[in-house]
Amino acid sequence: MKIAMIGTGYVGLVSGVCFAEFGFQVTCVDKNPAIIERLQAGEVTIFEPGLDDLLDRNAKDGRLVFTTDLATTVADADVIFIAVGTPSRRGDGEADLQYIHAAADEIAAAMKPDAVIVIKSTVVVGTNADVRARIAKARPGVAFSMVSNPEFLREGSAVEDFLRPDRVVVGVHDEAGAIAMRRVYRPLYLRETPMIVTTLENAEIIKYAANAFLAMKVTFINEVADLCEKAGGNVQDVARAIGMDNRIGSKFLHAGPGFGGSCFPKDTRAYAATGRKLDAPQTLIEQVVSINEQRKRSMAERVIEAAQKHGVKSVAVLGIAFKPNTDDIRESPALDIIPLLQKAGLTVRAHDPEARTAAEQVLSGVNWCKSAYEAVEGAGITLLLTEWNVYRALDLKRVASLMDGNILFDLRNVYSGQDLDGTGLEYHSVGRPLIGRPS
Ligand code: UDX
Repeated sequence: MKIAMIGTGYVGLVSGVCFAEFGFQVTCVDKNPAIIERLQAGEVTIFEPGLDDLLDRNAKDGRLVFTTDLATTVADADVIFIAVGTPSRRGDGEADLQYIHAAADEIAAAMKPDAVIVIKSTVVVGTNADVRARIAKARPGVAFSMVSNPEFLREGSAVEDFLRPDRVVVGVHDEAGAIAMRRVYRPLYLRETPMIVTTLENAEIIKYAANAFLAMKVTFINEVADLCEKAGGNVQDVARAIGMDNRIGSKFLHAGPGFGGSCFPKDTRAYAATGRKLDAPQTLIEQVVSINEQRKRSMAERVIEAAQKHGVKSVAVLGIAFKPNTDDIRESPALDIIPLLQKAGLTVRAHDPEARTAAEQVLSGVNWCKSAYEAVEGAGITLLLTEWNVYRALDLKRVASLMDGNILFDLRNVYSGQDLDGTGLEYHSVGRPLIGRPS
């Protein structure tokens, strides 16, 4: 079985490497020659724990190759995965399908009969059926199967998620598609991973509904955190207790500065846009989108207010990536918060273990530092935005002694009472009582 993976972005690269790890012959295709050259040289183009070893091993064993030549690859492939981007379209928030359509047209021109074409990219409901019709029109009389196979990979643990998923979702149009998917995922069901075989439309909706629900869960606990702050509660205690109810579940109940990343913001917008388009308003998710936008701004306002009150001029930001273990900064709260701090006249010193290069492209006027300790030097306020492990074990006495002021905003609730003892820091977190303000 030969697999073609079109698109070597996040989803395509992780999936391609992992299918090679399953033992298949995989060719990953990308239009960008610079990316392909780096991959051919064995260089991993994204930061993802565990991916480099797998890429190295499978490339050396000859099961994994990289090319810009889509037509030749597709002409020889049994299963063709489309894993190109579906960014938010400016203005209406709908998913932009131009890259999917372009890939489908090229595949249609080159595929061999009975090929199985699988869309892995997140696409709005109806897209698989449309793409199927588009390909059928371009190659009349040539049999092929259309499959929707959404991914549920989390950045930072994508390899693990691919190799050990909770479930595999497969939307099919015919039995041949289902048979091919059972073959490519066979190593997983030896581990008894459930495979949901359903319609193309259901698979598309499952992906969006799953992400929308998780984004809603985060937004919900963020609002509970606001209530806890006003009422003198502690959101971590509340989350722990409600999460013990199996119907609620303990995951995704960490309050923070608002969700970011390449999926939740884009997918909630697209899901809401689909609801509007189909006259099935997704009012809850519409609210989630706007509450989350507002939340990032209100986090900046908290810091600005404290800065004005204490005459602070400089803020040290720890963490730019939207979450730990990734260099991805897409829609990270830091990208909204930092410009607002600067606009309020504050200077920003910042550190991130992996995301600095990406951040330098989009943030201006930031003083980049080599370590958390260097960043906090002379700062009046330290603002912890991403819960990287290195920020979980800071020597807070040292932090306090290096700072010019004494305010720590920990928007990921990394620290707690005893950690602050003897530091002299005024500690603000999310949905928990303030610690250390002189009475
Ligand atoms: C998500 C989905 O989890 C994954 O299934 C899907 O395929 C892609 O989108 P990812 O974007 O990698 O994955 O990150 P995730 O770990 O889900 O976190 C998303 C955002 O929510 C981050 O900004 C994170 O900080 C935030 N979050 C998550 C919280 O604020 N609190 C939580 O309890 C969980």
